[in-house]
Amino acid sequence: MFHILPDAASVAEYVSLQLVTRIRSKPDIVLGLATGGTMEPIYARFVEQACRQRLDVSRLTSFNLDEYVGLSADHPKSYSAYMRQHLFRHLSFDGSRLHLPDGLAADLDRHSAEYSARLRQCGGVALQLLGVGSNGHIGFNEPGTSFDSRCHIVRLSERTRIDNSRFFEGNAIVPESAITMGMSDIMEAREILLIATGESKAAIVAEWYRNGVTEAIPFTVLKRHSQAKIILDDAAASLLPAAVRASPLAVYG
Ligand code: F6R
Repeated sequence: MFHILPDAASVAEYVSLQLVTRIRSKPDIVLGLATGGTMEPIYARFVEQACRQRLDVSRLTSFNLDEYVGLSADHPKSYSAYMRQHLFRHLSFDGSRLHLPDGLAADLDRHSAEYSARLRQCGGVALQLLGVGSNGHIGFNEPGTSFDSRCHIVRLSERTRIDNSRFFEGNAIVPESAITMGMSDIMEAREILLIATGESKAAIVAEWYRNGVTEAIPFTVLKRHSQAKIILDDAAASLLPAAVRASPLAVYG
């Protein structure tokens, strides 16, 4: 279940290679994509590898996990802008196949239902990339979110807004709510790679290990998924018991 690598660069190398291999063997794959600091080195490495190998990405479909409510796709802090900056503008994607929730949709509940429906129409996600919040959230499914949830609107926790304020320098205020794929949408992916790097994730990774499946720590739901892998660097794994760090693939609660 755990795969522990020395540092964030090795994690980026590993995940990027997984992406390249999957896309090469199935060019029309459906990917579930995340944003955030964890993903930046991964997308950077993937872009390098894809360019060098002239990987055809024009037929793949992607669904991003989330978007801030109230930010337009053009807003520099929107997740749309993030995806363009770190991934989409560097390779020849087909824009009509790249999906992100619309933070400005007039009817957000209806838009959420349509987003989940569109995902199912496209055959569901084959490979889902996830980061994890320091409180255990995946997508923006904050602690306490029902495991039965579909794409929905969430009020961001104070903890998440503080964590993400590093992306909103100056006087910009982190939005109070977001639209996110739900826990059920995420769990329907056929394969999931959750990535956590850096010391700031060590405590929540240790909580994942210590606890059973609980809505209080959303990413514990991955214990119920037969094809989920948690990829860590040494820093994020540092509070796991020594035995787990020594034999990460063998030990799983
Ligand atoms: C972003 C997302 C979030 C982040 C999480 C970790 O699309 O779904 O769950 O993955 O907040 O963010 P970073 O990587 O910035 O620590």
